[in-house]
Amino acid sequence: MAADTIGQVLSAEQPGAEVILVAVAWPYASGPRHIGHVAGFGVPSDVFARYHRLRGSQVLMVSGTDEHGTPILVAADKEGVGPREIADRYSRIIAEDLRQLGLSYDLFTRTTTKNHERVVRDVFRTLYEKGYLIKRSQMGAFSPSTGRTLPDRYIEGTCPHCGYLSARGDQCDNCGRMLDPQDLIEPRSRIDSSAPVFRESEHLFLDLPAFAEQLSQWITAKADWRSNVQSFSANLLAELRPRAVTRDIDWGIRVPVEGFEERPDKRIYVWFDAVVGYLSASIEWALVRGEPESWRQWWQGAGARHYYFMGKDNIVFHSVIWPSILMGYGNGGQYGGGGSRAELVLPENVVSSEFLTQEGQKFSSSRGVAIEVRDFLQRYDPDPLRYHLTAAGPETHDTDFTWTEFIRRNNDELVATWGNLVQRTLSLCARHFEAVPEPGPLEDADRALLEVVDGGFPRVGQLIGTAHFKAALGEVMALAAAVNQYLGETEPWRLIKQDRSRAATVLFTALQCIASLKVMFTPFLPFSSQRLHEMLGEPGLLAPMPELVEVDTGDQDAHLVLSTASSGWAGRWEPQRLPAGRPLAMPEALFRKLDPGLADQELARMAGSPDVPGSA
Ligand code: MF3
Ligand code: ZN
Repeated sequence: MAADTIGQVLSAEQPGAEVILVAVAWPYASGPRHIGHVAGFGVPSDVFARYHRLRGSQVLMVSGTDEHGTPILVAADKEGVGPREIADRYSRIIAEDLRQLGLSYDLFTRTTTKNHERVVRDVFRTLYEKGYLIKRSQMGAFSPSTGRTLPDRYIEGTCPHCGYLSARGDQCDNCGRMLDPQDLIEPRSRIDSSAPVFRESEHLFLDLPAFAEQLSQWITAKADWRSNVQSFSANLLAELRPRAVTRDIDWGIRVPVEGFEERPDKRIYVWFDAVVGYLSASIEWALVRGEPESWRQWWQGAGARHYYFMGKDNIVFHSVIWPSILMGYGNGGQYGGGGSRAELVLPENVVSSEFLTQEGQKFSSSRGVAIEVRDFLQRYDPDPLRYHLTAAGPETHDTDFTWTEFIRRNNDELVATWGNLVQRTLSLCARHFEAVPEPGPLEDADRALLEVVDGGFPRVGQLIGTAHFKAALGEVMALAAAVNQYLGETEPWRLIKQDRSRAATVLFTALQCIASLKVMFTPFLPFSSQRLHEMLGEPGLLAPMPELVEVDTGDQDAHLVLSTASSGWAGRWEPQRLPAGRPLAMPEALFRKLDPGLADQELARMAGSPDVPGSA
């Protein structure tokens, strides 16, 4: 595109506003998502995106379902249907899971769109033309029973470096080294435990060593990454090898290179395809919006910053492979090029979570150890789940989900601290004043409290911006507790009979704090924050919610996506003030108290007890 058009797009940026891409890992469309998945990529990315929007940043949050590759074929075989049917079914179910959790994607699309295929093929072809894809023969693993390739991840065996017994064909989770399936000692298929057969097969390899120096400079400069991601990525650099980016498989994007293009049994590797999704989804978003070049503001704009969110088994693809693809693509192809800022932006941060276990067991859909999001949300509200996954989730180390702890945190933290503060303050105001009370002169204690709460904005903001979500939520809760303590000391419920004017001042002060805390809680608890926003008589949307809509990119390729209205956002990340005299009605409870006995019921349901309604 012409340089002056780029200029126009870029100058449309709001002065001073940060330009942020929130790039969220693409879940496989191979089954419904369980709470371990959304703890890893879902909730953290949404907290981050919602915070940045409140700050006035220009946020683009994209992802979609990952619909190619063996995971889809395996699910299709299991259910006895074709891969297309599996992808269609689960793309919809997953989008619905994420919608119900309130994840505010600007676009959550699919990897089976025509737009995505066009972008992936352009990136692939460009790398090939630039000499970054090398043709080579390698031994490929095939399943003796089906004759199909066995993908790396479906082969397990002993790690040749550290002796770990359950290393996978692509990497060892114990020592972190990248592997090829034929490196494994005693390899076996994870699908049926048979020993794979290895056959010679021609593939295209991404020349990772060509980027070694550039990668290592880039990663060394990322001192603010979580240390697990930093050290893991740095270790990988020590032994970079070319990596196959084609597969012997008949489901996926065709390889746009002579000798491969015509072959129905050669496709682009699903991970190559999926990571390019961050770019293709941004392009789709711009096309659907009718401003086809507007994606460039995020990918070529000066100062644009990209944040990636995922579980830890995805790190290598985001910290090594995707950056190499971006470096190699450079200013080439159909989408790079143009003016001086022609190259595509590299990740600013790769935010990876650790794993969540469930009642002491590793999540595994195949073994029936999985709490599905849709099942969970049939019985519980989304905010308590979001709260729990942030406060007790696997941010920096593996954590265990237990029902007892979920219920305890809901009751002792959410209900007892924040819910209770809102409940008693609003009901006192409604009962005795029917409005935000007119305050008398503020006393020192009132001013001090307001100062403490207002001071939360920079502190909590800094924590969220650097991906310290758990600490950020802890700060907001501590501020809510401070307001509760103030109420305990001032006792407005007693004052109201003795000194109505002082009671009015105290309640006015507490209400101002609640109005500010409502904004600070919004990234974590968007549903209840929006309800509180409305109870306080505030206009506009504090926390818009995603919806399922059908879109068309002009490719005669209408498909369902998740998307969130981009206008009407009313919130600002700054201290809030409620005007005296604003009418207030009796509040509704923000959160439900949960009966501790539910924990036993849930455990019985998980064990498949016939006595529990809805158990499997
Ligand atoms: N589908 C992969 C998984 O569930 C994640 C793909 S993320 C992307 O583990 F970067 F490739 F998009
Ligand atoms: Zn190992």
